[in-house]
Amino acid sequence: MLRRLHPTQPDSFAFTPANQAWAEAQITKYPEGRQASAIIPLLWRAQEQEGWLTRPAIETVADMLGLAYIRALEVASFYFMFQLQPVGSVANIQVCGTTSCMICGAEDLVAVCKDKIAPKPHTLSADGKFSWEEVECLGACANAPMAQIGKDYYEDLTAERLGEIIDELAAGKVPTPGPQTGRYAAEPASGLTSLTEYAAGRAPLNASATLATEIGDTVKRIDGTEVPLIAPWQGKGRRPATPPQDPEPIVTPEPDRAEEAGHPFEGSVAPEAAPDRPAALEAAREGGADDLKKIKGVGPKLEKLLNSLGFYHFDQIAGWTESEVAWVDDNLEGFKGRVSRDEWVAQAKILATGGETEFSQRVKST
Ligand code: FES
Repeated sequence: MLRRLHPTQPDSFAFTPANQAWAEAQITKYPEGRQASAIIPLLWRAQEQEGWLTRPAIETVADMLGLAYIRALEVASFYFMFQLQPVGSVANIQVCGTTSCMICGAEDLVAVCKDKIAPKPHTLSADGKFSWEEVECLGACANAPMAQIGKDYYEDLTAERLGEIIDELAAGKVPTPGPQTGRYAAEPASGLTSLTEYAAGRAPLNASATLATEIGDTVKRIDGTEVPLIAPWQGKGRRPATPPQDPEPIVTPEPDRAEEAGHPFEGSVAPEAAPDRPAALEAAREGGADDLKKIKGVGPKLEKLLNSLGFYHFDQIAGWTESEVAWVDDNLEGFKGRVSRDEWVAQAKILATGGETEFSQRVKST
């Protein structure tokens, strides 16, 4: 494929202060005279910031590394991971079109992209939210056909499911990554034939899908707001200067509970200082805690964190008011904003009355 700079380019490029500090720290990884080795991470960070690699961005990176522009362009135009044209503001769908996927239906997936996004690859959808391209084997052939969207793989796809995923992303949701047919990992599609004793009691999703669901940032681009942006090789984990983040909530420690849970959330707002803190329980009621992982967006770590805050049951979450949701959203260290983003309260209302959501049914069936 011919890879050229896009005909329409912005006038300039500058890293954000946080990304600039990060980029300068990257360069210090390499010995004097070898700074050019930092080109791929710097180009990647520029792409994450802008969405695609513009000519001014390539030239800025070349200047930072003391490279001729053509040398930086050679790298940017060689690697397909660098997008030389604008991509969708929400996602660029990368459909694998190599042998296994092609045999298993990749052409149907491409047809969905043509229909829902744009007739041609590397073209923005009418609303600017999506673009798509066909890529070579992404190494998930046992779960063909598949597509990479943002940081995650969506496997065992059907045309119908890919269409739904695009609709979910357009609505601001993050679909659950991994196999889409209830298959756990890469075992035979017809079911396990050996090691069946290990199937009982395992987590609802495989480790990769669990982690991706917990992180929940499939299509979020690295923008310099990540914490911590550290350069440990520069001196004991020094963090480059970053713009001030949202102020942390006022906290008073609840050492016993936090220590028991053994997680980094070492305090919570004391009830008297936080009228919006939802009512908490000392322990799960008789009969045990609900499986909060049935709520889409809650993985094992988040469930542990919720339990440590005194939330064990669906009906507790179902009863949260708007201001209580805001409090929990603010106080889920490392998972801020998840309650509202994944609509936990609406999910919990269904689960608390014995109903099932689409996600909880899927959890049950895996
Ligand atoms: S052929 Fe599609 S992932 Fe390998």
